[in-house]
Amino acid sequence: MKVSVVKETASGERRVALVPETAGKLRAAGLDVLVESGAGDAAWFTDDNYAEAGAGIVGRDEALAADVVLSVGKPDEAAIAALRPGQTVIGLLAPLTDAALTASLAKAGVTALSMDMIPRTIPRAQPMDALSSQANIAGYKAVLLGAAEYDRFFPLLITAAGTARPAKVLVLGAGVAGLQAIGTARRLGAVVSAYDVRPEAKTEAESVGASFIELTSVGPASGEGGYARALTEEERQAQQEELADHIARHDVVITTAQVPGRRPPLLITEDALKRMAAGSVIVDMGSSPLGGNVAGSVPGEHVVTENGVTIIGAANLPSTMPAAASAMYARNISALLLYLVKDGELAIDTDDELQAGVIITRNGEIVHPALVKAADQGPAQA
Ligand code: NAI
Repeated sequence: MKVSVVKETASGERRVALVPETAGKLRAAGLDVLVESGAGDAAWFTDDNYAEAGAGIVGRDEALAADVVLSVGKPDEAAIAALRPGQTVIGLLAPLTDAALTASLAKAGVTALSMDMIPRTIPRAQPMDALSSQANIAGYKAVLLGAAEYDRFFPLLITAAGTARPAKVLVLGAGVAGLQAIGTARRLGAVVSAYDVRPEAKTEAESVGASFIELTSVGPASGEGGYARALTEEERQAQQEELADHIARHDVVITTAQVPGRRPPLLITEDALKRMAAGSVIVDMGSSPLGGNVAGSVPGEHVVTENGVTIIGAANLPSTMPAAASAMYARNISALLLYLVKDGELAIDTDDELQAGVIITRNGEIVHPALVKAADQGPAQA
């Protein structure tokens, strides 16, 4: 069975779906691994590195004709046009927010598996959990970006030239990325507070060194599968108002809040921004074309407000650490692939809970229950 890695085409994407080490492991498991020439260049893996690991280096057409096509991000239109019924594609396809892509993949007749749909509560799926591996990297890098932009120290410094007080860092959203951000900011010496709508996040945030902020105006908002649920309009407003007091007391704020399939919730409003001190820094990891956790954040840009608050629109942070992010993603995607392979061929079994959770299209149809339900309910709301 031929398994290929295609070169990513999205602007600014530097990751690659397999690194030479994992390509070698798939080869050792009896798979024929093909890598599109240059696929690893932006992550510092050369064609020669892949060839040494036993992969064949091929052109794009040949890579797109393999039995299984691996990618990090979504295939572009030209790639989808090249696909044929019966092929399998695996990548971070974001089907909950891109119904058009899912429909195109179904129309192309391919079996599509989306790495961001891995059912994270199934223990055997943990090695495949790309959302967690990439969120870990993003949380770490967000703090480094914030520290680099902040014009003072993170740690307490006592010197002959005076004493610098430690930075006060607030992490909004204490999931996988938030917990990594808390730990990283603590290791840099900052005093860290955290907040999340899921009450279970309290002990987790405290265990990595943050003091947890509990709001009186918003109750617990845990949703399905360990995620948060979307807040009602009233809850959202109350949350924004109460959070504004806490935000104003901090020097650096890292926002990581997400609700699956929806635009990231707005946590820092224009009013809250106005109350922050000049020189404060916000890193908005929710920054997206749909809007982020912070009013006025622009993906990929630094925006400075009139009162001197820098908002970093931190889009796709894992791609800024492509060697580490690709190595982790490669382990995730190869774990899923090897789980699916029996006797050298793909053995798709939609009765298997893990597979049913991750397969989004098959035999020309959209098959994932969440997508079928979403299609019945109409477009996702904020
Ligand atoms: P995520 O990326 O969807 O969201 C990030 C964080 O934002 C979450 O902690 C969420 O509660 C929070 N959030 C959402 N709306 C918010 C709001 N309005 N205000 C404040 N915070 C808000 O979630 P992530 O990090 O991918 O996973 C969340 C949790 O899922 C993890 O902390 C963990 O408990 C669970 N999980 C479980 C796994 C397992 O059982 N093996 C594996 C991975 C995650």
